[in-house]
Amino acid sequence: MIFQNKHILLCITGGIAAYKSVELLRLLKKAGAGVTVIMTESAKKFVGITTFEVLSENPVLSDLYFDTEASVKHIDLAKRADAVVVAPATANTIAKLAAGIADNALTTTLLAVTCPVMVCPSMNTDMYQNLRVQRNLDILEKDGWHILDPDSGVLACKTTGAGRLPEPWFIADRIEAMLTRKDLKGKRVLISAGPTVEAIDPVRYVSNHSSGKMGYAIAKAAEKRGAEVTLVSGPVHLETPVGVERINIETCDEMAARMLSYLNDADIIIKVAAVADYKPVDPKSGKIKKKAGNTELILNMVENPDILKLIGERKTKKQFLVGFAAETEDLEKNAALKIKKKNLDMIAANLVGSKDSGFKADTNKVKLIFKDGSSLDIPLMEKEELANILIDTILEKMR
Ligand code: PMT
Repeated sequence: MIFQNKHILLCITGGIAAYKSVELLRLLKKAGAGVTVIMTESAKKFVGITTFEVLSENPVLSDLYFDTEASVKHIDLAKRADAVVVAPATANTIAKLAAGIADNALTTTLLAVTCPVMVCPSMNTDMYQNLRVQRNLDILEKDGWHILDPDSGVLACKTTGAGRLPEPWFIADRIEAMLTRKDLKGKRVLISAGPTVEAIDPVRYVSNHSSGKMGYAIAKAAEKRGAEVTLVSGPVHLETPVGVERINIETCDEMAARMLSYLNDADIIIKVAAVADYKPVDPKSGKIKKKAGNTELILNMVENPDILKLIGERKTKKQFLVGFAAETEDLEKNAALKIKKKNLDMIAANLVGSKDSGFKADTNKVKLIFKDGSSLDIPLMEKEELANILIDTILEKMR
């Protein structure tokens, strides 16, 4: 959503990683941004201008003198831009930018921009670690520009080390973070997500359908809004959101131990995880064998700790505690009971059992209920969008 109606200047300099900028452009366009590409002369030796013009649906700015309109156009572009990304950024262009030199379309435009700028250095490791390059990057950072550290790996020059341009999805993710308001800065957010898994024997377990999507969406949104995020997660098939500390657990007992150990430092605690209320009393160390003639197997279960309740008992007045309620009936009544029983500030109640809401879906529909009894209906929407509405609501209530 953040890219909708935003205009990004994608500045490309002459490095072998320029091919990755094609994918970056595609991702930015797909996310809804308008993009204008600016290339240095050497960048054009790596990837042709036509590719960028077709994908961006805009003329590429490259030669201030060839294009008679360009001498004014670069100022217009600088004024219109919501963000600038220089990817890849060579040592040469980084030096010019740090010195304020304006000798081509890219460096001249960047002297006129006032919006956030991200510089993505990409070069040979020795060049990257060279004191002059580091000094120039420091200057840009002190000036308020964002520097994206390069990845390490095998480089085009066959050496191994830092200097690779990060993957396009990662750069796009960091541009999104750069454009997001930092209203959670200074806050620590502790989130649980995914299912718990309780062993019956070494090959079987009791669990549920939680995919982790809801909790991960909240973790991702909170990180982008400036929070330090710890995500205690059951087994899921999702990538860890960038910048989030993820702690993997399997059982309710493990989740309880990790949540409680991080509790004191947290300002906001959001318990999205679907926790097994019961676990097998006596998990077997060997696989339970099928016995001839046995048509039934009775599994004895014992209650798990209620982590949310334990947190509710320990939380301070400054901490904001949010629970989720997955209900198949009497949604409001059951959720309201959980608020009282577990000492919550807010509960997000979702009816589960439908394809577009609750477990596994990309969308969710919740009713937010607060400890004073008031409530707010949130219509069906993408979990990523809902995550931001939850954070908005939490911040409003904390104020
Ligand atoms: O992961 P997804 O596929 O995206 O699905 C999202 C979701 C449906 C899992 C999520 O939106 C949701 O509803 N999570 C809560 C699921 C749940 O366990 O609800 P509950 O009503 O059983 O528990 C209420 C609250 O107590 C929850 O915050 C739960 O984390 C917590 N709890 C429950 C039992 C227990 N032993 N310890 C707990 O802390």
